[in-house]
Amino acid sequence: MRNKVLEILEKTDNYISGQDISKELGVSRQSVWKAINALKERGYIIDSITNKGYKLITVPNYLNEQGLKNYLNTAIIGKKLIVFDTIDSTNDYLKSIGSNKEECINGTVAVSREQTKGKGRLGRVWQTKKDDGIAFSFLLRPNMTPNEVSAITPLTGLAVCKAIKQYTGLNCKIKWPNDIIIENRKLVGILTEMSAEFDAVEYVITGIGINVEHKEFPEEIAYKATSIFLETGKHINKNEFLAYVLKQIEDEFIRNDMHLTPQAIEEYTEMCATIGRNVTFERFGKKLSGIATGIEKDGELSVTLDNGEKFTVNSGEVTVQGIY
Ligand code: BTN
Repeated sequence: MRNKVLEILEKTDNYISGQDISKELGVSRQSVWKAINALKERGYIIDSITNKGYKLITVPNYLNEQGLKNYLNTAIIGKKLIVFDTIDSTNDYLKSIGSNKEECINGTVAVSREQTKGKGRLGRVWQTKKDDGIAFSFLLRPNMTPNEVSAITPLTGLAVCKAIKQYTGLNCKIKWPNDIIIENRKLVGILTEMSAEFDAVEYVITGIGINVEHKEFPEEIAYKATSIFLETGKHINKNEFLAYVLKQIEDEFIRNDMHLTPQAIEEYTEMCATIGRNVTFERFGKKLSGIATGIEKDGELSVTLDNGEKFTVNSGEVTVQGIY
């Protein structure tokens, strides 16, 4: 009921009476009144004038199902959408329902306004305080081998980086393998997890954390983190923005048929801040340093050492000189 009343208010430019809403929906005026109050409780500002009716003034700027659906125009990613006010981790939530193919269809998205046990890469913690950031994950059931699945993270990184550039005008870049940065501060982190048996993939979960409203960060990471608000001084509409990001991800997957095509590698390389810089990585228990020269066909980083020796680095921790 609440969502139906909201739909009517959203499409009406002027005031609309409770009676007209109740007629259109075929329900009592009492239920319309209750729905209006429920919307107000959720942060919608609705003006009401005797003899004129109701008018929607502003929608709340927090992630919510209806708000997202108003903007979402994807075919697969987000077709099933689960929005939480709070959850431990959106990745873990999808993992908990991942084996149930009926409940958790290909492209299911879980979003939360807050995470209490958000996870980063390499066992780190990813904090999402209420309404500060956007934390979401999507689950795919690709017909791929575990090896081919490695394309999903870089394609996602590429799509999210493009989406942020286009939506906010910010000049963000990719720090290989999958951080999105501005100058040398992190704006987005991506964590992909997979459930597979032998050479068959059951599902892949990709979780993305975007710093949006943060005005400050905990002392330990303050020097290396940033947010859209800190960079632009503007508050964005989180529902519209997330819908835009999901559409860019889906389009990137379709355009490249879920593979790291030469075109995707070229675009990734152009946006990759790591290439051309000095990087340090571990090999044979030793620390090696060299210049990152490019991205290989499976998304690995190619590195040339000072002595000309070439290496391919496929994940784990790489330190990039000049970036956190
Ligand atoms: C990293 O940079 O270390 C990866 C961070 C990934 C964070 C996102 S937020 C949504 C999803 N749920 C999680 O628990 N983690 C990912």
